[in-house]
Parts: sequence; C-alpha cells; structure tokens
Amino acid sequence: MNAPTESRILTPAALDVARVREDFPILSLPSNGKRLVFLDTAARAQKPRQVIDAERHVYEAEYANIHRGVYDLSQRATAAYDKARTKVRKFINAASDREIVFVRNATEAVNLVAQTWGRKNLKEGDQVILSEMEHHANIVPWQMLREQTGLELVVIPITDSGELVWEAYEQAFTDRTKLVAMTHVSNALGTITPMAEIIRVAHDHGVPVLVDGCQAVPHMPVDLQALDADFYVFSAHKLYGPTGVGVLYAKAGILESMPPYQGGGDMIASVTFARTTYADIPQRFEAGTPNIAGTIALGAAIDYIESFDRQALLAHEHALLEYATERLRANNAITLYGTASDKAAVISFAIEGVHPHDVGTILDFEGIAVRAGHHCAQPVMDRFGVPATTRASFGIYNDFDDVDALMRGIARVQEIFG
Ligand SMILES: Cc1ncc(COP(=O)(O)O)c(C=O)c1O
Repeated sequence: MNAPTESRILTPAALDVARVREDFPILSLPSNGKRLVFLDTAARAQKPRQVIDAERHVYEAEYANIHRGVYDLSQRATAAYDKARTKVRKFINAASDREIVFVRNATEAVNLVAQTWGRKNLKEGDQVILSEMEHHANIVPWQMLREQTGLELVVIPITDSGELVWEAYEQAFTDRTKLVAMTHVSNALGTITPMAEIIRVAHDHGVPVLVDGCQAVPHMPVDLQALDADFYVFSAHKLYGPTGVGVLYAKAGILESMPPYQGGGDMIASVTFARTTYADIPQRFEAGTPNIAGTIALGAAIDYIESFDRQALLAHEHALLEYATERLRANNAITLYGTASDKAAVISFAIEGVHPHDVGTILDFEGIAVRAGHHCAQPVMDRFGVPATTRASFGIYNDFDDVDALMRGIARVQEIFG
C-alpha cells in the first residue's frame, strides 16, 4: 500500500492486505496488461489458495460418493461433507446441523422455499412482503408462486438514499400477510437493512421471515439464533468459496413440516412402486449426488474467513467504502446511488453523460474489473430512473491503492468522453 494521503481513513493494522493478496493466485495475474484491480466481489469473490487446494484435495485424495459407500474412501468423503455442514452451522450459529440444507446457490434456496413451504402454506389472496431493493432471485420465485396460487406481492418502497421506508413496512401487515422475504444487504445499493427489527416486527404479527443473506455473510458476522430468521439463504461463491454450492438455513420445525422439493436418490427412507417415504431433514431436501468437492471447499472458505478477526475485516471494508465514497463525492460529474447510513462496501454510481457499459469497458482497459448493468435488481434501477449503474464492490483483498486506481480510471473515462 502507498503511504496514505491525508484524507485516507486508515485500515486497522490487524489486516495485512498485501499478505492476504498472496493467498489469491488470480490477483497476481495481469488483466489487459495491467495490474488486476478486482472490484466485483459482490458478484463473485475470488478464491484463496486454501479453497482451491481443498477442492483439489478432494479429487486427489478423498473423492467418492457420500452416504452410500461402505468402503473407506466413501466414508472419508462422507465425513468431510458432514464436517462442512457443521462448519456452516457454526459460522451462522444455527442451532443444529439438521437446519442446514446444501443446494446449488441462493437462487435455488429461495425457489425451494417457494415451491415447498410456499405451495403448502400460501393460497389465493395471501400476501408476501418484499422490498423494492430485492435481487431478482428474491422476486421471481415469488412471482412464479403467485402464478400458481394467486398470492399477492406487497412491495415496500425505498427512500432516495436506498433505505426501507420503515413506516410503510410497519403498516404493510394485514391478517393475510404470510411471509416477509427480504434482503439483509442490497447488492445494488449496499444498504444494510435493519434485519433484527424487520424480523421482530414480522414475528409480532406471527409472520415468518426469509432473509436473503448473499451479501451479508461474506462481510459481517451473522448469528441466526440471535437474529431469529426463519429462513436464511446464501451462496458459497460470494464467500470466497466455490461456485455451485449454496445454503438454505431453516428452523428445524419448519423444515420438518415442508414437503420435499426434488425427488430421487438420497432423499428417501424407502421406495416401492406403491409408496415412498422420505428421509429426515436435511437429507430430504438434498436429492441426487451433491457437489461433494465444492461443499467441502465451502468448509475451507469458512475456515479461511474465520482465520481473520471478523471485526477487523468489517472495519477494513468500511474504511475502503468511506474512502471511495469520499473520493467519488468529490467529483461533481458523479452521482451515487445508495447512500444509506448503514452500508456494506458496495458503491453504485453514474458518470454524467457516459453509459455505465462504456465506463465498465474503459475501466477494463485499465485492468479494473467493475460491474456495469442492472445488477439483477431492475426494480432498483427503475426506482432511481436509470437503466444501469456502474458498481464497485470491495472484499478482503482490496486496499486503498485499488480505490486510487478506480479514481484514475474514472478520470480516464472523463478524459475520453470530455
Ligand atoms: C442479494 C443477492 N441475492 C441473491 C443473489 C443470487 O445469488 P446466486 O446467483 O448465487 O443464486 C445474489 C447474487 O448476485 C445477490 O447479490
């Protein structure tokens, strides 16, 4: 890291970013001939060697099917897979391993809840409360369920700074409200929603809550027993883990009451042509051969994150957010979208007179990877009256130099379009 300029907010010494970057092989490779400045962690985080090695180790030394083989290799694979479930449980402080279901990604987790719990419990006229800042993964499954059941979606608006309109939320409950499904952190705006309060209000009305935790778990400690969420979903790939693995948490009593999602091997107790009985939770929801190596590597990603002081990580990302916000605000041609008082390290912005895709392309020439588009949150774009934004998001391996590189890249964009 360069010596900080006066305006810089210093990262606590507890996080040695230069050392962290050595764990991520991809960050030492150039992009377009320049040093790679990776600012798209909210989409997919890069992977540390520890995660890559864990996945490779499974295929080299521990690979076999799980829960089925009697031989040593299969039993070792099963033990490693089950251990990953325990790691996830501890990571989010769930009460029991039985509450952790492995799926493909957060999207599949929401669809699973909609198509099992939702189809069983929701009928015509029932209401599901969402917010205007949901990712499509927490909108479309409910719309599909609406087609099937005739339920109604109640959308809580957001303010100009990207915060939930709290009074609208409190007043949205009726005797037909059956579920609140809401994000913990907005991927498009960075807003951290007051989830403990959201859940408390819903529970006061006897309504369960599904939390989209995709952007929360990588950045802040999440304690599900304290939060008391009924469902919580996230994807491993945003957590420095592999693609193809996601987690559905649900309270044991709720999971036990839910019909299965997909049918097939591994989710049954017994099968005859006349009748099939289902396995206990969580296996009931894990039909077919799972992503064995990926799930074990998710366990390694959790070990990796937990090898750091979580508060120091939080402080580090917050310092980057504040520094980047300050620098972007100083540029009169830039509009920021998402200025909530409580934010994760995600910044959406527009440069006057330049389409976000052009911003993204020019930054790419400079080796800077940002996301340009609607971020799978088109209603957020509609709310702010823009087709797209440019989004810079930060992770464990970013430092102030990355923010400086972004600012130089933006200056270059303005030079070209000036
Ligand atoms: C807030 C949020 N929810 C859900 C998702 C969907 O995640 P996945 O594509 O891994 O299912 C994302 C991914 O961008 C996200 O940011």
